Amino acid sequence: MNVNIDYEQIDLSKPAPIEEPQRQYYFIAKARKLVKELSEKAGRPLTYITQTFGCQMNARDSEKLTGILEQIGYIEETEEEKADFVIYNTCTVRENANQRVYGRLGQLQHVKKANPYMMIGLCGCMMQEPEVVEKLKKSYRFIDLVFGTHNIYKFAELIVTRLESERMVIDIWKDTDKIVEDLPSERKFSFKSGVNIMFGCNNFCSYCIVPYVRGRERSRDPKDIIREIEQLAADGVVEIMLLGQNVNSYGKGLKEPVTFAQLLEEIEKVDGIERIRFMTSHPKDLSDELIEVMAKSKKICKHLHLPVQSGSTRILEKMNRRYTKEHYLNLVDKIKKAIPDMSLTTDIIVGFPGETEEDFQETLDVVRKVRYDSAFTFIYSKRTGTPAAVMEEQIPEDVVKDRFDRLLKEVQSISSEVCSVHTGTVQKVLVESLNDHDSTLVTGRLSNNILVHFPGNEEMIGSIVDVKLHTCKGFYYLGEMV
Ligand code: SAH
Ligand code: SF4
Ligand code: F3S
Repeated sequence: MNVNIDYEQIDLSKPAPIEEPQRQYYFIAKARKLVKELSEKAGRPLTYITQTFGCQMNARDSEKLTGILEQIGYIEETEEEKADFVIYNTCTVRENANQRVYGRLGQLQHVKKANPYMMIGLCGCMMQEPEVVEKLKKSYRFIDLVFGTHNIYKFAELIVTRLESERMVIDIWKDTDKIVEDLPSERKFSFKSGVNIMFGCNNFCSYCIVPYVRGRERSRDPKDIIREIEQLAADGVVEIMLLGQNVNSYGKGLKEPVTFAQLLEEIEKVDGIERIRFMTSHPKDLSDELIEVMAKSKKICKHLHLPVQSGSTRILEKMNRRYTKEHYLNLVDKIKKAIPDMSLTTDIIVGFPGETEEDFQETLDVVRKVRYDSAFTFIYSKRTGTPAAVMEEQIPEDVVKDRFDRLLKEVQSISSEVCSVHTGTVQKVLVESLNDHDSTLVTGRLSNNILVHFPGNEEMIGSIVDVKLHTCKGFYYLGEMV
């Protein structure tokens, strides 16, 4: 979102406004002043780096953090060791995500000793866990700022508190019903953008920590969403990704309830937006109305991420997913009938407590029947505080690893077959970047999310072009513009 605020005009001799977002504009102005003073003292501009872990939600939140840091006057730095402000936007969905953060913090401590201007901030999902904050307070005193997922909009205010107090600032909220609009954000891509349509989750799948760290489900007002998308379109964005933990339950708590399908129809009308994506869809809430809207839409991409998690009805029940294997397979049939070229992707967990070889075979069966374009496969990770963490029959590591390897093999061999069906066709491709390895090539994405590399140049980035798909290399194509 582009907000045009003249921060120099804000009178800092007055107390901070109570109302948001005006209050945050005030603190951005104040932080600008403080950072400018520090920068003069240092004799150089101060720099920042935002490090993002986890999902698209976090990626979007990081754009908001970055937007605020830029407004405050920090300049982007690409190397963590050189930055004066390092902010980690953390994820805690699986235990290894947490371990990575602790590991990197250990290294940062040494860097900080050598740079008197350095500040380290931590935010995001991991910070919503009380035991994490306890550990930071005890063993990581060099950290400057700790906040959670609910008060990210207060970033500027927290920076000011830290700069004025010289001590570790910790501000974590348990939950919130507040959605603050119109704060600055700095998009990573000029031509595509994530758009939050809802926050939080009410589903409490028994393995999952997200509802505890992201709070209760709340939807943004459709008018605010449309206004944001119109502004993005005016700014040159052609593709948007609507974000929510379960977009299919969008709109339920609003004063005037709206369905997700109705929201999509409104978004479709925004001129300039060429492609609409969304994630994630919970199979239990995917409506016929949504399938109809997708089938007739010219802009909604032919890609549906529909996490199955397990193919065993018995395990699905223990996971509290509230659908059966049959329900899921019927849903997939219905979607494929209505939209034959729809690409389907999924998330699968192996090694959930009590999972037997028979249960695992059911998962393989779903994979073979649905024939996913791709699947994210995860080893079950025990998350303290979730019901599954105290379930009996946690599965031994070697058994899980063996199942994981077998699943991955199956997923990959099917996916390379499924992906290759478009060979020889001409498809619309949104050019996203220069190719990482060969700068005579560009990399773009098909409507179904598959990547294609083809000859091109930097000027093509952000445009949608017709590309003939010559060869499929498993998960991507090589092609040529026509
Ligand atoms: N809201 C989305 C998922 C968000 S988390 C949905 O319901 O589809 C992304 C994925 O992480 C999940 O789909 C699940 O497959 C995986 N995941 C969540 N908790 C996990 C855990 N404890 N162990 C392993 N994988 C997990
Ligand atoms: Fe987690 Fe389930 Fe919510 Fe997805 S729907 S975020 S898996 S609790
Ligand atoms: Fe991770 Fe939080 Fe997303 S736990 S997956 S960053 S919602």
